[in-house]
Amino acid sequence: MIVSQLNLTDFRNYSTADVSLRPGANLFVGSNGQGKTNLVEALGYLSTLGSHRVSSEQAMIRQGQDAAIIRARLENGDRQLLVEVQLNRVGANRAQVNRSVIKMRELPRYFSSVLFAPEDLALVRGEPSGRRRFLDELLVLRNPRFSGVMADYDRVLKQRNTLLKSARSAGVKGSQLNTLEIWDDRLVTLGSELIEARTTVVAELLPEVTAAYERIAGEDHHAILTNQLSILADHPELDGDSPEGDRGGIVTAIEAATHFRNSLERLRRNELDRGVSLVGPHRDDLILHLNGMPARGYASHGESWSFALALKLASAELLRRESAAGDPVLILDDVFAELDQSRRGRLAGAIAGFEQVLITAAVFDDVPPELRSHTVQISAGTIVEPKP
Ligand SMILES: Nc1ncnc2c1ncn2[C@@H]1O[C@H](COP(=O)(O)OP(=O)(O)O)[C@@H](O)[C@H]1O
Ligand SMILES: [Mg+2]
Repeated sequence: MIVSQLNLTDFRNYSTADVSLRPGANLFVGSNGQGKTNLVEALGYLSTLGSHRVSSEQAMIRQGQDAAIIRARLENGDRQLLVEVQLNRVGANRAQVNRSVIKMRELPRYFSSVLFAPEDLALVRGEPSGRRRFLDELLVLRNPRFSGVMADYDRVLKQRNTLLKSARSAGVKGSQLNTLEIWDDRLVTLGSELIEARTTVVAELLPEVTAAYERIAGEDHHAILTNQLSILADHPELDGDSPEGDRGGIVTAIEAATHFRNSLERLRRNELDRGVSLVGPHRDDLILHLNGMPARGYASHGESWSFALALKLASAELLRRESAAGDPVLILDDVFAELDQSRRGRLAGAIAGFEQVLITAAVFDDVPPELRSHTVQISAGTIVEPKP
């Protein structure tokens, strides 16, 4: 899939913008603060209904304006689609496909992109919640049904925590324990489904991440990842938190449910004392290892950066493999400045096969020559004519 045209109205620092894009590499250059990230953020929003920078959509509407519009013409073989979204300061946002109104939440079905940005360094260096979000976003991109399962799990978790807290303050009564068991059942059922799905996607990501890291850094570097499950905290032999990586451990939701139930039983007293749910997918982590050491706390800045990039490239590979709509559009925001010369060249090779790649850079010369064929200059929210 490619984006052939992008139009913005009152989005971030653009009053209007009109950009033509080509298959293959498209490079956006401009000094800091000119609007390069804003431009790719708009496209990222069309595929995820979110921004990698802010959780509120208000910041994306140009200051002093009431609404922002993102419009993209998409091409997939001979098929063309016009996708449009209007973000409103007041009232609901609106989405259209080929000028017919659709529900906002259906928008991501039409456009798929994978965006890598400096913020993604937190995948390696940050808290587990960021890594869980990475996996969950990938799950939803591959199977939209999971957004419902996740929402249900979060709701059950909140209600169970509320019950645990009230039991703690009031002293446990028999009836509350019965209610707790009902919430246990729901937590285990939904949670085990998520555990199975995450375990499966981690197993599929593993060879792709290893391969992507090697492509960026060279064959003498070995990156792996394993799923660390809180329900196995007392069973390190089943857990994935070891440099060897893979394990027989949990594969199915049924196996997960057994361990989940045992953990809840074992932790009952503890959970009642503390008033929180201590195990489940909300406490899991994705452990990253580089050359036999945990990446978090050991990897250098450049290595962490490359690892985060490998995670994103690997997820793009998984998506392209199974998508009927062609490759996701790969978006690399400000990545080349952070890599040394040899990794820049290697990255250029690694992304060469994608139908379309959008790249931003402050310094033209940071980007390898083979990715400069279509360069667009951006200055203060204005698209300057493409370089010849
Ligand atoms: N809602 C908004 N309204 C007007 N300007 C904005 C808005 N949000 C961000 N900006 C401006 O956009 C600029 C940042 O653009 P950005 O795309 O991040 O720059 P870069 O080219 O370095 O990637 C800043 O000058 C910021 O003030
Ligand atoms: Mg930027």
